[in-house]
Amino acid sequence: MKIAMFSCQAYEPPFFKSYLKDYPHSFQFYEAHLNLHTVNLAKEYSIVCCFVNDDLSANVLTKLAENGTQLIALRCAGFNNVDLEKAKALGLKVVNVPAYSPYAVAEHAVALIQTLNRKTHRAYNRIREGNFSLNGLLGFDLYGSTVGIIGTGLIGSRFAHIMAGFGCKLLAYDILENQECHDIGVNYVTLNELYQASDIISIHCPLTQATLHMINEQAIAQMKPGIMLINTSRGAVIDTCAVITGLKQQHIGYLGMDVYEEESNLFFEDLSDVIITDDVFARLLTFPNVLITGHQGYFTRQALDQIAITTLENITAFAEHN
Ligand code: NAI
Repeated sequence: MKIAMFSCQAYEPPFFKSYLKDYPHSFQFYEAHLNLHTVNLAKEYSIVCCFVNDDLSANVLTKLAENGTQLIALRCAGFNNVDLEKAKALGLKVVNVPAYSPYAVAEHAVALIQTLNRKTHRAYNRIREGNFSLNGLLGFDLYGSTVGIIGTGLIGSRFAHIMAGFGCKLLAYDILENQECHDIGVNYVTLNELYQASDIISIHCPLTQATLHMINEQAIAQMKPGIMLINTSRGAVIDTCAVITGLKQQHIGYLGMDVYEEESNLFFEDLSDVIITDDVFARLLTFPNVLITGHQGYFTRQALDQIAITTLENITAFAEHN
C-alpha cells in the first residue's frame, strides 16, 4: 500500500524503515501537518498516516475521501482530532495505536512531579554557575503524600504503580474502575473528593465532551491550596485561563504540563527564532512553578518502535480485508 505520512519528524522514518522490509508498503514522509492547505499532498495515496496535531475535521476528511483516501492510520492513541462521525459517513476507516508505551507517559508524569518538587532544573543551572545556595529549592517528601489520579486506564494504572512505590496514598476517579488499581490499594472516590483530598493530581483520561475543561475555576476552587497539577493527557482537559488565575492567586502551587490546548500551533517545531503570539502560553512561561514539556511524554525508543510496528500491522490488516 502507498501511504502518505503527515507531521513526520526526522526521528520517525528510521523506526518505520527498520521494519518496512517485512511489509509490502511504501511511505511518502511529509513534514507538513495535514490540514486543508496540505490535503492535496495525499492525492493518490489510499492511506494517510497522522499524528496528534493533524487536522482531521469534516472539511479535511471530505477532501481526503474525494482524493481517494480509504484509511486514516493514526500513529497515536488519542483520536480527539478526528471527526469520527464524518469519517464513518464518508466510509473512511480510522485506526490508532491504542498502546505503545504506557510506561513512557507514566514515567514522564513522575519526571514532571519530581522536577517541580525538587527543582533539579534550577539546581542544574545554579551549580554550573558556582551557586551552591539552597534557597528556593525546598521540596517535600512524596512518601505519605496523597496523589489523585483522574483516569486509571493503561497509563493511569502504570502511574499508580509507580506512585505506590514512593509510598503515596492513592485516590482515583474514573468512569470505569480498574481491578489492577484496587489490588494495589487505590481508593476510588468522587471527583470532588479527589479534588479536596489530593496533594498532587495527575490527569490520565482522554479528551472527550465530558472531560473538556474538566479542570476549571470550580474544580480548582475545591483543591487544596498549594496543589500540584500534572497534565500529560490532552491540553483541553484543563481550562488554561482558569489555571493561570489559580497560579496568580497562589492557590495552585505547581503546574506540570506536557500538553497544551493550543499546542498544534507550537509543539514539535523549532520556533526559537519566531515571536510567540500566544499570550496565554507566554504568561504560563513566566511562572517559576510551571514546567512545560512539548508533548514528549510518549517519546522513548520503545514507544517509537511500537508505534511503527502497530501502524504497519494496522495497515496490513486493512489491506488484507479490502
Ligand atoms: P486508556 O483508554 O487506557 O485509559 C483512559 C482512562 O480514562 C480509562 O480508564 C477511561 O475509563 C477513563 N475515562 C474516560 N472518560 C473519563 C472521564 N470522563 N472521567 C474520568 N476518567 C475517564 O488510555 P491511556 O492509554 O491510559 O491514555 C490516556 C490518555 O493519555 C490518552 O487519551 C491521551 O490523550 C493521553 N496520551 C498522552 C501521551 C503523551 O505523550 N503525553 C501519549 C499517549 C496518550
